[in-house]
Amino acid sequence: MGEKEIAVLAIESSCDETAAAVVVNGRDVRSNIIASQIDIHKLYGGVVPEIASRKHIEKINQVIEEALTEAGKTLDDIDVICVTYGPGLVGALLVGVGAAKAISYAVGKPLVGVHHIEGHISANYIANPDLEPPFLCLVASGGHSHLVVVRDYGQYEILGRTRDDAAGEAFDKVARAIGLGYPGGPEIDRLSKEGNEKAIEFPRASIEGAPYDFSFSGLKSAVLNYLNECKMKQIEYSKADVAASFQCAVVDVLVEHTMLAAKNLGISKVAIAGGVACNTGLREGMKAACEKDGYEFYLPTPILCTDNAAMIGAAGYYDYRNGVRHGLDLNAVPGLKLGE
Ligand code: KG4
Ligand code: ZN
Repeated sequence: MGEKEIAVLAIESSCDETAAAVVVNGRDVRSNIIASQIDIHKLYGGVVPEIASRKHIEKINQVIEEALTEAGKTLDDIDVICVTYGPGLVGALLVGVGAAKAISYAVGKPLVGVHHIEGHISANYIANPDLEPPFLCLVASGGHSHLVVVRDYGQYEILGRTRDDAAGEAFDKVARAIGLGYPGGPEIDRLSKEGNEKAIEFPRASIEGAPYDFSFSGLKSAVLNYLNECKMKQIEYSKADVAASFQCAVVDVLVEHTMLAAKNLGISKVAIAGGVACNTGLREGMKAACEKDGYEFYLPTPILCTDNAAMIGAAGYYDYRNGVRHGLDLNAVPGLKLGE
């Protein structure tokens, strides 16, 4: 293209993954290092914020060094430092933000703070080199369930969001109730394959007047009620059937609301993102719905769906091109809204 290469060093530490990546021109991932803390948090059945911060501090320098080494780059070869500054756990975010600021100051390279959800959405640019906005993206993770119209690079319009639990949170809570480990999404996904998704009719919630919003707490309660009822009546239930029927209910709602939005807004491209986008039922269900109705379907590889820094590098590259710059007073913003 004759264009100057822009190499981004990206850092992500918003939850329980300490991650760093080198990404060139937004889509060419030269390294993507992820140090997962899942094994520690598993012991507690969920992420313990204090432990997350401590583990990030231990790992961050090593992860950044590995990302540079694997990419065959030194800090001198890096043009921009990008870092997730929200939303997320404040103590966890601060570790990445602190590291990014120190590097930016030491080497005199620009600093760009990136929104975590923007990162999840941008994972699609890496996996699909031809994808350009506008497109519709369903973002479903442990902390978020959003339907977002990507009008242009860095321009987002939130169409709908969850009113209560995020989709991933519902997976994690239901998994815990049927005795599966943390994180529950992958466990339910696995177990679903052995169960009958039509065995139990769980509710598919929609909210009057807000067709693109989600609600998963009613579904979670329905699963808990079903389990309690079985216990009281001393009926043995099939964990696999509960997992499959629950997953089917979540996937149905996610697919239905997304396809309705695509149709109503006349958007021809549909993408998914976030940890729940790893779910095989969702990947297959959304693909089938898009094929049936003639929409183009985009999805990241599973490693780019869960938290990683390559997606932050992709988003940060486009932010940088749009002129976004942050000063050394950049702070972690745990409740950061998309588009701020
Ligand atoms: O995007 P992510 O890594 O972190 C957040 O930003 O929240 O998402 C983690 C969430 C967890 O709730 C996890 O259970 C869910 O994604 N998840 C899945 C699957 N893999 C991860 N949910 C359903 N099916 C999966 N295969
Ligand atoms: Zn995430």
